[in-house]
Order: sequence, then structure tokens, then C-alpha cells
Amino acid sequence: MGDGTSETKSSNQMWGGRFAQGPSAIMEEINASIGFDKKLFAQDIRGSIAHATMLSHQGIISADDKDKIVHGLDTILSEIESGQFEFSRRLEDIHMNIEARLSDLIGPAAGRLHTARSRNDQVALDFRLWVKEELQKCEGMLTSLIAAFLDRAEEHAETVMPGFTHLQTAQPVTFGHHCMAYVEMFGRDRQRVRHAIEHMDESPIGAAALAGTGFPIDRHMTAKALGFREPTRNSIDTVSDRDFALEFLSIASICAVHLSRLAEEIVIWSTPQFGFVRLSDAFSTGSSIMPQKKNPDAAELVRAKTGRINGSLIALLTVMKGLPLAYSKDMQEDKEQVFDSAESLELAIAAMTGMVRDMTIRVDRMKAAAGSGYSTATDLADWLVREAGLPFRDAHHVTGRAVALAEQKACELAELSLADLQAIHPDITDKVFGVLTVEASVASRTSFGGTAPSEVRKQIAWWRTRN
Ligand code: ARG
Repeated sequence: MGDGTSETKSSNQMWGGRFAQGPSAIMEEINASIGFDKKLFAQDIRGSIAHATMLSHQGIISADDKDKIVHGLDTILSEIESGQFEFSRRLEDIHMNIEARLSDLIGPAAGRLHTARSRNDQVALDFRLWVKEELQKCEGMLTSLIAAFLDRAEEHAETVMPGFTHLQTAQPVTFGHHCMAYVEMFGRDRQRVRHAIEHMDESPIGAAALAGTGFPIDRHMTAKALGFREPTRNSIDTVSDRDFALEFLSIASICAVHLSRLAEEIVIWSTPQFGFVRLSDAFSTGSSIMPQKKNPDAAELVRAKTGRINGSLIALLTVMKGLPLAYSKDMQEDKEQVFDSAESLELAIAAMTGMVRDMTIRVDRMKAAAGSGYSTATDLADWLVREAGLPFRDAHHVTGRAVALAEQKACELAELSLADLQAIHPDITDKVFGVLTVEASVASRTSFGGTAPSEVRKQIAWWRTRN
């Protein structure tokens, strides 16, 4: 230690041969974001064209320089799109890679583009544009998933299945009703997406480094050109804020949790023990050793993607926590989390839409299961309240005794004789058998939002007008 030479040597010893060039190579590696932020090239170019056009309109740069800049940027766009562009890590990020190339192409006029802006508002703009577009894509994908569920619900408005609580048979429901539960969940996700788009619909460009600028820029003009409702109102907040990314990740996490619950149900339903659905070949795989197997891999992977997405939310929340205003380089860590989650979420929604559309619903298996496990016990209790005037708590007790007797006789409730039932409570008549079937049970549940086919059809009709 002490003189510069031994300092360098000891660093090299610590970090190993990979950093043969010494600490500056390490700096470059930790600092550069081009490896992932090149994804923002189209947004960066769009933002720069809007900025240059505004600068020229305001007389801050000449029309001639503006034309050169716009033409140069268009050239760069096609170079990147056609794979000819050479990204350089030495130039750190997408912003400097593009600006350096612009300077190669058009010379000194390129240097005027960065008037009245900073990479701080530039990256806030590019990333916000990207997230907004991603949310618009998610909105459309959720609409397709909802449409797939609406079709299945319509087809199976009358199909009975067991409804569960604690994954124990609870009461019979219709498969259409179960599908509509997912329509509600994904419908809320889509609402969250729409609200988030509204929240982030403000243009950051022109906030400059953090304090705004003395140049007579027109932020309303750039906001309009870039499709934002209006410019952001506080330049310090503008370059500090990553709420829009956190909101995306929160929405993605909640949606992933919904997808994961659906995935889990599909995994359970497709077991030979349940046998409620048969997955299409397109969304399942075989086993290399057990020829009889058909595995729900796509559903399992959707379930697992939730881990990555939720992890990204926690990662970015933790990056942002405790950062002083305004920009800090920590914020460069925002992008990979969002990009990875976006890719995972898109894949998960697409896979689920395909599975829901393709899977075969095994109506007979669902119906057989719907009637087992004394699923109509509540209907017996309700009948005793309605027809025999019992308080519900007493009716619950009487029904409990009927279930115990059926269990003892190893039969269903509807298979008990009238004499058996009357021995438990004398007011029971043979009319009770009319409510003990699963069809009667579901048909009776006509309360708003209930499982009766007539009600489910109303729910479907309501959603059809809201796409
Ligand atoms: N690559 C940077 C990021 O993603 C761009 C902004 C850099 N700003 C700065 N002041 N160094 O955050």
C-alpha cells in the first residue's frame, strides 16, 4: 500500500484476471447500462426528435441544425433496427451511444441536441414512454384473456362443479361462474393498468438535470408531440420519480398472483384424481420415462414466473427506498427489473389465454364431483329454515345429523329415505328431495352475483359491453 503501483496491483489481485485493465475496467462494467437500456432506442430517438423540433421552433437552435439532427436520428433508427449499429460499452448507455453516432453522422450540429436537457430528464422520458407502451400492450392482452374466459363461461353457464373452501367441497357452483371469478380479477388488473397509464401520462422532458432550464423551451409542445396529456409540474420530482415503474411492477405482481392461482387450479384440475380438465397437447408435455403422463408445464411455469415478477417489485422498492432527491445513479437499476417482469408477464398472460381457450372441460367428471362430499347440505339447512320455520342455527344442527347419518350409511344426502330424515326432524317432507340435487342447488342461487346459470348469464352480458 502507499504508492499508486501497489494499490493497482492489490486491486488486480483482489478482482482477478478478468479485469486485466485495472480499476477503470471495473468502473466501466459497473457503470455501463447499454447492455440492457439499448431496448430504449426507439423511445430515445423519438424523444430527441421532439426535443430538437421544439428547440428549433423556439429559436434556440437553427432550422438547418434541426433538420440535420432529425435526419441523422432517422438514419440511426434504421441502423439499429437493421442490426448494423455498433453499441459501445465505453459510451455507457443508449443516450450517449446515439449521440456519439449522431456526431459521426452530422458533425458539430449534433452537439446542439443536448441544449436545455440532461440525461436525467432524457432517461425519465425514455423509460416512461417504454412503460406506457408496455402497459398499453398488457391492456390488450388482458382483454384477450378476459374474452377467452367469457367464451368458456358462456359455453359452461350450466355446467356444475364443486365449489371449494379450504379446497374442501363446499357448495355446488357452475363452471361458468368460476370462470367469471377470473374475469373479475383480470378485469380489475386491466383497470389498474388503465389508471396507471393515466397517472404516468405526463412528459418529463425539459426538467433538465433537476432545476429546469433558462432556455425558453416549450414543454407543452414536446408533451403533445410525444403523446402525453401534459408536462410534469415539478422538475425535481420529475428526475427523481420512478413511481411509474413501481406501479407497473405492482400491477404486474398482482396480475401474476392472479395468473398463478389460475395456474395452480389448472394443475389440480388436470390431475387424474380430479380430472376436471384435459389440457391440449399444445400446452402440455410428456414424460421421458412415464408414457402415461401429460404434464401441465405451461401452468407450472406461469405459477413460477410470479416469483420473478414479485421479486422485481421488491428489488426496485428497495433500490428507491431512502434515495435523496433528485437523481442518483442507483436509479439505473430500475430497467432490468421492469424489462424482465414485462417479458415474464406477457408470456404468462399469453400462455394462460391459450390454455383457457384450448382445454377440454370434462363436464361429466365435474358433475360427479359436484354431488359428492354432501355439497348440498346448505340447501337442506336453507329448506328447513324456509319450509319448516327453523332458526338457521337449529337447521344447521339438524343438517349436521343428516350428514352424519349419510356418512354412516355411506350414501349421499339425497339417498337417505324420508323415514331416515323424519327421524332426525319430523317436519321434513318429501319435497325436500327437490332441493338436494346439484342442479336445483345452483339454480336456486339467484342472488346478485350468485352461481345460478341465469345470474351468470347476466354477469357475462355485463362484461361483454365493457371490453
Ligand atoms: N444510464 C443512466 C440511467 O439509466 C442515464 C442517466 C444518467 N444520468 C447521470 N446523471 N449520470 O439512469
